[in-house]
Amino acid sequence: MGGEKRVNTVSDEKKKLLQKTVMKNFPKIEVHRHLEGTFPVDKLHQLSLKNNLERPSDFEAFKKEVQFPKDSSPDFLAFLTKFRNDWYRTFDDVYFITYHSVKELVQDGLYYCELRFSPEHFALENDFDRCEITKLIVEAGNKAAAEVGLKIRYLLTFNRSKQTSGEMIDLYNRLKALQIPEIVGIDLAGDEINFPPEQFRDFFGLVESDGLYKSTIHAGEVSSSEQIWEAIRNLHAARIGHGTSTIDDPSLQDFLKEKGIALELCITSNYQTGSWEDERNHPIGALYRKGVPVTLNSDDPFIQNTDLTDDYIKAVEYFGFTLQDLIRLNLNAVEASFLPKQEQDRLREGYLQKVEAFKEQYSLGGG
Ligand code: HPA
Ligand code: ZN
Repeated sequence: MGGEKRVNTVSDEKKKLLQKTVMKNFPKIEVHRHLEGTFPVDKLHQLSLKNNLERPSDFEAFKKEVQFPKDSSPDFLAFLTKFRNDWYRTFDDVYFITYHSVKELVQDGLYYCELRFSPEHFALENDFDRCEITKLIVEAGNKAAAEVGLKIRYLLTFNRSKQTSGEMIDLYNRLKALQIPEIVGIDLAGDEINFPPEQFRDFFGLVESDGLYKSTIHAGEVSSSEQIWEAIRNLHAARIGHGTSTIDDPSLQDFLKEKGIALELCITSNYQTGSWEDERNHPIGALYRKGVPVTLNSDDPFIQNTDLTDDYIKAVEYFGFTLQDLIRLNLNAVEASFLPKQEQDRLREGYLQKVEAFKEQYSLGGG
Protein backbone atom coordinates (compact mmCIF):
# COMPACT_ATOMS: atom_id res chain seq x y z
CA MET A 1 0.00 0.00 0.00
CA GLY A 2 3.00 2.31 0.38
CA GLY A 3 1.38 4.01 3.39
CA GLU A 4 4.71 5.23 4.75
CA LYS A 5 5.15 7.54 1.77
CA ARG A 6 1.80 9.14 2.31
CA VAL A 7 1.26 12.65 3.49
CA ASN A 8 -0.82 12.70 6.61
CA THR A 9 -0.81 16.15 8.08
CA VAL A 10 -4.12 17.92 7.89
CA SER A 11 -2.71 20.97 6.16
CA ASP A 12 -0.88 18.96 3.49
CA GLU A 13 -4.03 16.99 2.78
CA LYS A 14 -6.05 20.17 2.61
CA LYS A 15 -3.59 21.82 0.23
CA LYS A 16 -3.85 18.89 -2.13
CA LEU A 17 -7.64 18.68 -1.99
CA LEU A 18 -7.95 22.36 -2.77
CA GLN A 19 -6.19 21.85 -6.10
CA LYS A 20 -8.75 21.49 -8.83
CA THR A 21 -6.66 18.97 -10.75
CA VAL A 22 -6.63 16.73 -7.68
CA MET A 23 -10.22 17.22 -6.53
CA LYS A 24 -11.52 16.61 -10.03
CA ASN A 25 -10.29 13.04 -9.73
CA PHE A 26 -11.73 12.38 -6.28
CA PRO A 27 -14.38 9.68 -6.93
CA LYS A 28 -17.88 11.06 -6.53
CA ILE A 29 -21.40 9.81 -6.25
CA GLU A 30 -24.07 12.29 -7.14
CA VAL A 31 -27.80 11.97 -6.57
CA HIS A 32 -29.04 15.46 -7.51
CA ARG A 33 -28.20 16.63 -11.00
CA HIS A 34 -30.63 17.68 -13.75
CA LEU A 35 -29.85 16.67 -17.32
CA GLU A 36 -31.48 19.95 -18.42
CA GLY A 37 -28.98 21.80 -16.26
CA THR A 38 -25.84 19.92 -17.19
CA PHE A 39 -25.43 20.45 -20.94
CA PRO A 40 -21.90 21.15 -22.20
CA VAL A 41 -22.23 24.80 -23.21
CA ASP A 42 -20.23 24.41 -26.43
CA LYS A 43 -22.55 21.61 -27.58
CA LEU A 44 -25.58 23.69 -26.69
CA HIS A 45 -24.16 26.56 -28.69
CA GLN A 46 -23.75 24.21 -31.66
CA LEU A 47 -27.38 23.17 -31.30
CA SER A 48 -28.51 26.77 -31.08
CA LEU A 49 -26.67 27.67 -34.31
CA LYS A 50 -27.97 24.59 -36.13
CA ASN A 51 -31.55 25.35 -35.14
CA ASN A 52 -31.27 29.08 -35.86
CA LEU A 53 -32.46 29.95 -32.38
CA GLU A 54 -32.77 33.57 -31.41
CA ARG A 55 -29.69 33.45 -29.23
CA PRO A 56 -26.31 35.10 -29.71
CA SER A 57 -24.02 33.45 -32.25
CA ASP A 58 -20.94 34.78 -30.47
CA PHE A 59 -19.98 32.14 -27.90
CA GLU A 60 -19.21 34.49 -25.02
CA ALA A 61 -22.43 36.44 -25.58
CA PHE A 62 -24.29 33.14 -25.81
CA LYS A 63 -22.90 31.97 -22.48
CA LYS A 64 -23.83 35.25 -20.87
CA GLU A 65 -27.42 34.88 -21.99
CA VAL A 66 -28.01 31.22 -21.23
CA GLN A 67 -26.23 30.92 -17.90
CA PHE A 68 -27.26 32.50 -14.62
CA PRO A 69 -25.09 35.64 -14.43
CA LYS A 70 -22.51 35.32 -11.64
CA ASP A 71 -22.84 39.00 -10.76
CA SER A 72 -26.64 39.01 -10.52
CA SER A 73 -28.48 38.82 -7.23
CA PRO A 74 -29.67 35.40 -6.19
CA ASP A 75 -33.19 34.87 -7.48
CA PHE A 76 -35.08 31.58 -7.48
CA LEU A 77 -37.65 32.35 -10.18
CA ALA A 78 -35.08 34.07 -12.44
CA PHE A 79 -32.87 30.98 -12.09
CA LEU A 80 -35.72 28.73 -13.19
CA THR A 81 -36.29 30.82 -16.34
CA LYS A 82 -32.93 29.54 -17.65
CA PHE A 83 -34.51 26.15 -18.36
CA ARG A 84 -35.66 26.73 -21.95
CA ASN A 85 -37.81 24.20 -23.75
CA ASP A 86 -36.91 25.33 -27.25
CA TRP A 87 -33.35 24.01 -27.68
CA TYR A 88 -34.45 20.91 -29.55
CA ARG A 89 -36.11 20.47 -32.93
CA THR A 90 -35.61 16.77 -33.59
CA PHE A 91 -35.09 13.52 -31.72
CA ASP A 92 -31.48 13.65 -32.90
CA ASP A 93 -31.04 16.96 -31.06
CA VAL A 94 -32.19 15.38 -27.80
CA TYR A 95 -29.96 12.36 -28.38
CA PHE A 96 -26.97 14.60 -29.18
CA ILE A 97 -27.25 16.78 -26.10
CA THR A 98 -27.95 13.86 -23.75
CA TYR A 99 -25.08 11.78 -25.10
CA HIS A 100 -22.57 14.62 -24.71
CA SER A 101 -23.87 15.63 -21.28
CA VAL A 102 -23.46 12.13 -19.87
CA LYS A 103 -20.10 11.64 -21.53
CA GLU A 104 -18.75 14.67 -19.69
CA LEU A 105 -19.89 13.57 -16.23
CA VAL A 106 -16.68 11.62 -15.62
CA GLN A 107 -14.71 14.85 -15.95
CA ASP A 108 -16.10 15.69 -12.51
CA GLY A 109 -14.81 12.34 -11.20
CA LEU A 110 -18.27 10.82 -11.14
CA TYR A 111 -18.42 7.11 -10.43
CA TYR A 112 -22.20 6.80 -10.05
CA CYS A 113 -24.88 9.31 -10.91
CA GLU A 114 -28.65 9.41 -10.48
CA LEU A 115 -29.38 11.78 -13.30
CA ARG A 116 -32.84 13.32 -13.39
CA PHE A 117 -34.69 14.63 -16.40
CA SER A 118 -38.14 15.86 -17.22
CA PRO A 119 -39.70 14.12 -20.26
CA GLU A 120 -42.14 17.02 -20.41
CA HIS A 121 -39.27 19.52 -20.66
CA PHE A 122 -37.73 17.79 -23.68
CA ALA A 123 -41.06 17.10 -25.42
CA LEU A 124 -43.04 20.30 -24.83
CA GLU A 125 -41.90 22.61 -27.63
CA ASN A 126 -42.34 20.06 -30.44
CA ASP A 127 -45.01 17.96 -28.77
CA PHE A 128 -42.78 14.91 -29.06
CA ASP A 129 -44.17 11.66 -27.74
CA ARG A 130 -43.15 11.65 -24.05
CA CYS A 131 -42.56 7.89 -24.02
CA GLU A 132 -40.36 7.97 -27.11
CA ILE A 133 -38.35 10.86 -25.70
CA THR A 134 -37.86 9.01 -22.43
CA LYS A 135 -36.64 5.88 -24.19
CA LEU A 136 -34.31 7.94 -26.35
CA ILE A 137 -32.76 9.81 -23.40
CA VAL A 138 -32.10 6.58 -21.53
CA GLU A 139 -30.61 5.01 -24.64
CA ALA A 140 -28.29 7.97 -25.29
CA GLY A 141 -27.32 8.24 -21.63
CA ASN A 142 -26.62 4.52 -21.32
CA LYS A 143 -24.45 4.53 -24.43
CA ALA A 144 -22.35 7.45 -23.22
CA ALA A 145 -22.09 6.03 -19.70
CA ALA A 146 -20.94 2.64 -21.00
CA GLU A 147 -18.28 4.30 -23.16
CA VAL A 148 -16.75 6.17 -20.22
CA GLY A 149 -17.28 3.55 -17.50
CA LEU A 150 -19.88 5.52 -15.51
CA LYS A 151 -22.63 3.81 -13.56
CA ILE A 152 -25.89 5.61 -14.19
CA ARG A 153 -29.54 5.51 -13.19
CA TYR A 154 -32.33 7.97 -13.94
CA LEU A 155 -35.06 9.81 -12.07
CA LEU A 156 -38.10 11.24 -13.84
CA THR A 157 -38.70 14.86 -12.96
CA PHE A 158 -42.19 16.33 -12.86
CA ASN A 159 -42.41 20.10 -12.79
CA ARG A 160 -44.88 21.73 -10.40
CA SER A 161 -45.75 24.65 -12.67
CA LYS A 162 -46.01 22.69 -15.92
CA GLN A 163 -48.59 20.06 -14.97
CA THR A 164 -51.35 19.45 -12.47
CA SER A 165 -51.24 16.41 -10.21
CA GLY A 166 -53.84 14.74 -12.48
CA GLU A 167 -51.76 15.36 -15.61
CA MET A 168 -48.71 14.02 -13.82
CA ILE A 169 -50.63 10.84 -13.01
CA ASP A 170 -51.57 10.34 -16.66
CA LEU A 171 -48.01 10.81 -17.85
CA TYR A 172 -46.57 8.69 -15.05
CA ASN A 173 -48.90 5.80 -15.92
CA ARG A 174 -47.68 5.86 -19.52
CA LEU A 175 -44.03 6.10 -18.53
CA LYS A 176 -44.16 3.34 -15.96
CA ALA A 177 -45.67 1.02 -18.61
CA LEU A 178 -42.34 1.29 -20.45
CA GLN A 179 -40.74 -0.68 -17.61
CA ILE A 180 -37.32 0.85 -18.13
CA PRO A 181 -35.14 -0.79 -15.49
CA GLU A 182 -32.62 2.08 -15.24
CA ILE A 183 -35.34 4.48 -14.06
CA VAL A 184 -35.35 4.24 -10.29
CA GLY A 185 -37.13 7.28 -8.96
CA ILE A 186 -39.50 10.20 -9.33
CA ASP A 187 -38.65 13.84 -8.61
CA LEU A 188 -40.80 16.92 -8.04
CA ALA A 189 -39.06 20.14 -9.14
CA GLY A 190 -39.90 23.70 -10.15
CA ASP A 191 -41.53 26.62 -8.40
CA GLU A 192 -42.19 25.62 -4.79
CA ILE A 193 -43.29 29.13 -3.89
CA ASN A 194 -46.45 29.15 -6.01
CA PHE A 195 -46.96 25.38 -6.19
CA PRO A 196 -46.51 23.93 -2.69
CA PRO A 197 -46.17 20.17 -2.19
CA GLU A 198 -49.70 19.54 -0.87
CA GLN A 199 -51.01 20.08 -4.43
CA PHE A 200 -49.29 16.86 -5.48
CA ARG A 201 -50.43 14.43 -2.77
CA ASP A 202 -52.53 12.35 -5.15
CA PHE A 203 -49.70 11.81 -7.59
CA PHE A 204 -47.10 10.88 -5.00
CA GLY A 205 -49.64 8.77 -3.13
CA LEU A 206 -49.98 6.73 -6.30
CA VAL A 207 -46.19 6.44 -6.75
CA GLU A 208 -45.95 5.23 -3.16
CA SER A 209 -48.72 2.67 -3.49
CA ASP A 210 -47.26 1.32 -6.76
CA GLY A 211 -43.97 0.66 -4.96
CA LEU A 212 -42.01 0.76 -8.23
CA TYR A 213 -40.05 3.94 -7.59
CA LYS A 214 -38.79 6.00 -4.69
CA SER A 215 -39.46 9.72 -4.60
CA THR A 216 -37.37 12.78 -3.99
CA ILE A 217 -39.03 16.16 -3.58
CA HIS A 218 -37.46 19.61 -4.00
CA ALA A 219 -38.61 21.15 -0.72
CA GLY A 220 -37.49 23.70 1.84
CA GLU A 221 -35.22 25.24 -0.80
CA VAL A 222 -36.76 28.70 -0.62
CA SER A 223 -39.58 27.79 1.78
CA SER A 224 -39.79 26.85 5.44
CA SER A 225 -39.20 23.39 6.89
CA GLU A 226 -42.99 22.90 6.90
CA GLN A 227 -42.72 21.96 3.21
CA ILE A 228 -40.15 19.32 4.06
CA TRP A 229 -42.47 17.78 6.67
CA GLU A 230 -45.25 17.81 4.07
CA ALA A 231 -42.99 16.21 1.44
CA ILE A 232 -42.08 13.42 3.83
CA ARG A 233 -45.45 12.80 5.49
CA ASN A 234 -47.77 13.20 2.55
CA LEU A 235 -45.61 12.86 -0.56
CA HIS A 236 -43.57 9.99 0.94
CA ALA A 237 -40.21 11.53 0.05
CA ALA A 238 -37.27 9.19 0.57
CA ARG A 239 -34.87 12.09 -0.03
CA ILE A 240 -35.23 15.86 -0.04
CA GLY A 241 -33.93 18.11 -2.81
CA HIS A 242 -32.01 20.89 -1.04
CA GLY A 243 -34.00 21.28 2.18
CA THR A 244 -31.70 24.02 3.44
CA SER A 245 -34.41 25.21 5.86
CA THR A 246 -33.79 22.02 7.88
CA ILE A 247 -31.19 24.06 9.72
CA ASP A 248 -34.00 26.02 11.45
CA ASP A 249 -35.81 22.93 12.70
CA PRO A 250 -34.02 20.70 15.24
CA SER A 251 -36.90 18.23 15.46
CA LEU A 252 -36.75 17.74 11.69
CA GLN A 253 -33.00 17.15 11.97
CA ASP A 254 -33.64 14.41 14.53
CA PHE A 255 -36.34 12.92 12.33
CA LEU A 256 -34.10 12.83 9.23
CA LYS A 257 -31.36 11.15 11.28
CA GLU A 258 -33.72 8.58 12.72
CA LYS A 259 -35.33 7.71 9.38
CA GLY A 260 -32.17 8.01 7.28
CA ILE A 261 -33.79 10.54 4.95
CA ALA A 262 -30.97 12.35 3.16
CA LEU A 263 -30.77 15.95 2.06
CA GLU A 264 -29.44 16.62 -1.44
CA LEU A 265 -27.52 19.84 -0.80
CA CYS A 266 -25.93 21.93 -3.56
CA ILE A 267 -23.72 24.75 -2.29
CA THR A 268 -23.46 26.85 -5.47
CA SER A 269 -27.04 26.33 -6.59
CA ASN A 270 -28.33 27.15 -3.11
CA TYR A 271 -26.55 30.49 -3.29
CA GLN A 272 -27.73 31.39 -6.79
CA THR A 273 -31.37 30.51 -6.16
CA GLY A 274 -31.41 32.50 -2.93
CA SER A 275 -31.91 29.34 -0.91
CA TRP A 276 -28.88 30.28 1.18
CA GLU A 277 -27.33 33.71 1.49
CA ASP A 278 -23.70 32.99 2.23
CA GLU A 279 -21.86 29.96 0.85
CA ARG A 280 -19.29 30.23 3.60
CA ASN A 281 -21.83 29.28 6.24
CA HIS A 282 -23.95 26.99 4.11
CA PRO A 283 -25.79 24.54 6.41
CA ILE A 284 -24.01 21.47 5.01
CA GLY A 285 -21.20 21.97 7.53
CA ALA A 286 -23.41 22.17 10.62
CA LEU A 287 -25.89 19.50 9.49
CA TYR A 288 -23.08 17.07 8.68
CA ARG A 289 -21.56 17.58 12.12
CA LYS A 290 -24.94 16.99 13.74
CA GLY A 291 -25.13 13.64 11.98
CA VAL A 292 -27.95 14.51 9.58
CA PRO A 293 -27.53 12.42 6.41
CA VAL A 294 -26.36 14.99 3.87
CA THR A 295 -25.05 14.57 0.34
CA LEU A 296 -23.18 17.05 -1.85
CA ASN A 297 -24.40 17.70 -5.39
CA SER A 298 -24.16 20.17 -8.25
CA ASP A 299 -27.84 20.55 -9.36
CA ASP A 300 -27.42 22.52 -12.61
CA PRO A 301 -23.74 23.12 -13.34
CA PHE A 302 -24.15 24.52 -16.84
CA ILE A 303 -26.65 27.14 -15.71
CA GLN A 304 -24.53 27.92 -12.66
CA ASN A 305 -21.32 28.10 -14.72
CA THR A 306 -19.60 25.76 -12.25
CA ASP A 307 -18.97 22.07 -11.80
CA LEU A 308 -19.36 19.57 -8.97
CA THR A 309 -15.62 19.73 -8.29
CA ASP A 310 -16.06 23.42 -7.37
CA ASP A 311 -18.68 22.44 -4.78
CA TYR A 312 -16.28 19.90 -3.28
CA ILE A 313 -13.52 22.49 -3.09
CA LYS A 314 -15.93 24.84 -1.30
CA ALA A 315 -16.77 22.07 1.16
CA VAL A 316 -13.09 21.70 2.04
CA GLU A 317 -12.35 25.40 2.09
CA TYR A 318 -15.39 26.63 4.01
CA PHE A 319 -16.18 23.75 6.34
CA GLY A 320 -12.82 22.10 6.84
CA PHE A 321 -14.05 18.80 5.44
CA THR A 322 -11.23 16.25 5.42
CA LEU A 323 -10.77 13.42 2.95
CA GLN A 324 -12.56 11.16 5.44
CA ASP A 325 -15.48 13.58 5.59
CA LEU A 326 -15.72 13.67 1.79
CA ILE A 327 -15.74 9.88 1.69
CA ARG A 328 -18.50 9.89 4.34
CA LEU A 329 -20.60 12.27 2.22
CA ASN A 330 -20.31 9.85 -0.68
CA LEU A 331 -21.17 6.85 1.48
CA ASN A 332 -24.23 8.81 2.59
CA ALA A 333 -25.08 9.11 -1.12
CA VAL A 334 -24.69 5.34 -1.59
CA GLU A 335 -27.09 4.73 1.29
CA ALA A 336 -29.52 7.33 -0.01
CA SER A 337 -29.37 6.04 -3.58
CA PHE A 338 -32.48 4.48 -5.04
CA LEU A 339 -30.68 1.23 -5.85
CA PRO A 340 -31.74 -2.07 -4.29
CA LYS A 341 -29.70 -3.06 -1.23
CA GLN A 342 -27.47 -5.57 -3.03
CA GLU A 343 -26.60 -3.06 -5.71
CA GLN A 344 -25.88 -0.47 -3.04
CA ASP A 345 -23.45 -2.90 -1.46
CA ARG A 346 -21.69 -3.46 -4.78
CA LEU A 347 -21.62 0.27 -5.42
CA ARG A 348 -20.06 0.94 -2.00
CA GLU A 349 -17.40 -1.69 -2.59
CA GLY A 350 -16.55 -0.39 -6.07
CA TYR A 351 -16.53 3.17 -4.80
CA LEU A 352 -14.14 2.41 -1.94
CA GLN A 353 -11.76 0.72 -4.37
CA LYS A 354 -11.78 3.86 -6.48
CA VAL A 355 -11.03 5.89 -3.36
CA GLU A 356 -8.04 3.67 -2.54
CA ALA A 357 -6.68 4.21 -6.06
CA PHE A 358 -7.17 7.97 -5.63
CA LYS A 359 -5.29 7.94 -2.31
CA GLU A 360 -2.44 6.01 -3.89
CA GLN A 361 -2.29 8.36 -6.85
CA TYR A 362 -1.96 11.46 -4.69
CA SER A 363 -0.24 9.88 -1.65
CA LEU A 364 -3.14 10.80 0.59
CA GLY A 365 -4.73 9.49 3.74
CA GLY A 366 -2.41 6.64 4.69
CA GLY A 367 -3.41 6.85 8.39
N1 HPA B 1 -35.25 24.04 -7.72
C1 HPA B 1 -36.39 23.67 -8.32
N2 HPA B 1 -36.41 23.17 -9.53
C2 HPA B 1 -35.27 23.04 -10.18
C3 HPA B 1 -34.06 23.41 -9.62
C4 HPA B 1 -34.06 23.94 -8.32
O1 HPA B 1 -33.02 24.29 -7.74
N3 HPA B 1 -33.10 23.13 -10.52
C5 HPA B 1 -33.72 22.61 -11.60
N4 HPA B 1 -35.04 22.56 -11.40
ZN1 ZN C 1 -32.70 20.43 -8.50
